[in-house]
Amino acid sequence: MNDGPLHDIDPQIHDVINREKIRLNSTLELIASENFASPAIMEAQGSILTNKYAEGYPMQRYYGGCKYIDMAESLAIERARDLFGAEHVNVQPHSGSQANMAVYMALLKPGDRIMGMKLSHGGHLTHGSTVNFSGIFFQNFPYGLDEHTETLNMDRISAQAFEIKPRLIIAGGSSYPRRIDFSLFRNIADDCGAYLMADIAHIAGLVAAGEHPSPIPYCDIVTTTTHKTLRGPRGGMIMCRREYADRIDKAVFPGSQGGPLMHVIAAKAVCFKEAMSDDFGSYQRQVVQNARSLAEEFLYLGYRLVSGGTDTHLFLVDLRPKGIAGKDAEDALDEAGISVNKNQIPFDDKGANVTSGIRIGTPAVTTRGMKCTEMKTIARLVNRVLENIGNKRVYAEARQEVGELCNRFPLYVHKMDFTN
Ligand SMILES: Cc1ncc(COP(=O)(O)O)c(C=O)c1O
Repeated sequence: MNDGPLHDIDPQIHDVINREKIRLNSTLELIASENFASPAIMEAQGSILTNKYAEGYPMQRYYGGCKYIDMAESLAIERARDLFGAEHVNVQPHSGSQANMAVYMALLKPGDRIMGMKLSHGGHLTHGSTVNFSGIFFQNFPYGLDEHTETLNMDRISAQAFEIKPRLIIAGGSSYPRRIDFSLFRNIADDCGAYLMADIAHIAGLVAAGEHPSPIPYCDIVTTTTHKTLRGPRGGMIMCRREYADRIDKAVFPGSQGGPLMHVIAAKAVCFKEAMSDDFGSYQRQVVQNARSLAEEFLYLGYRLVSGGTDTHLFLVDLRPKGIAGKDAEDALDEAGISVNKNQIPFDDKGANVTSGIRIGTPAVTTRGMKCTEMKTIARLVNRVLENIGNKRVYAEARQEVGELCNRFPLYVHKMDFTN
């Protein structure tokens, strides 16, 4: 085996990684689903644990040599259980989508009815979209937002569930900026005899730190990703009541996955340890405060925000009053070194590739140490670009200021070499 450094063995991939490091360090990351994992998490994720096959679960593997692997997975499970107060945890899903697939396999039969939030109103592809396995194998009857408040109308969802009698109701989404009342979803699920699943992929970090009410007391199953607000390695996880433990574990392996990614599971364990610290609590509070400050500044600058603002780490800007499409805003901001994603707003008349809005989130810039003062600067930079769509000189000036702001909040500098 050639055990030389990456830059000798594969200079092209080494170069790609360095370019991406420089991009991350010198641009403002406002994509709500992105964050920066700690060097300790990346050390575990980049470790020799990637080599091990460990089909099965701790102490019940289909391969020998799993003594240390078992310790890593058991630590991840125990820490996640403590962090979220869950009865049972499966840390093996490779991603949030895999976690959701395993839940549906565990609870449903093909053709069963489900009810998830409409994709175009803030749900996720795996909540029943027709282009996803969840909408192909199951019949989805999506619920939308109230056209006046642009928030969940629980009375309407209740009436719809009573009529449809779904086997599963899914609470949670990818671009819903308001708090979700999981207790009301529980009442609805009980009234119509459905299972209740919460997908907290986006808000998991807030939930862990008590900045968003936990779904655990109310839901049969809770799924999440570990890489968004939770700030861990890229991956998924399922938490459930003890009575579903066996079905969930079987649906993950052997139902829908093979060998677990043990290096990622070890990194999840590190993430959960970090998430139990006081620092993590302060970080999540700042994420929410920053989102509120940034949203207020956008309102002050004359933008319309879906539902009027945010309770979480993200918000949606409706660009229709400005006459700008989400795609054009995303492209222009990209040139200025600001990453956002185009996003449909509720009742959007533009498709998902164009959209009338952008989604903005604060987890990544907060990880860099930015606070409310910087949020004002960011809102003004975004505004300057959006007021001058097509003006390359303005993009370049904004790019310069973005670079200066980023330089004041360096990323990974103590642990990573950005130069070679
Ligand atoms: C609510 C929600 N669920 C599930 C997922 C899927 O996660 P992954 O991309 O890890 O498959 C996402 C990702 O954006 C999400 O926002």
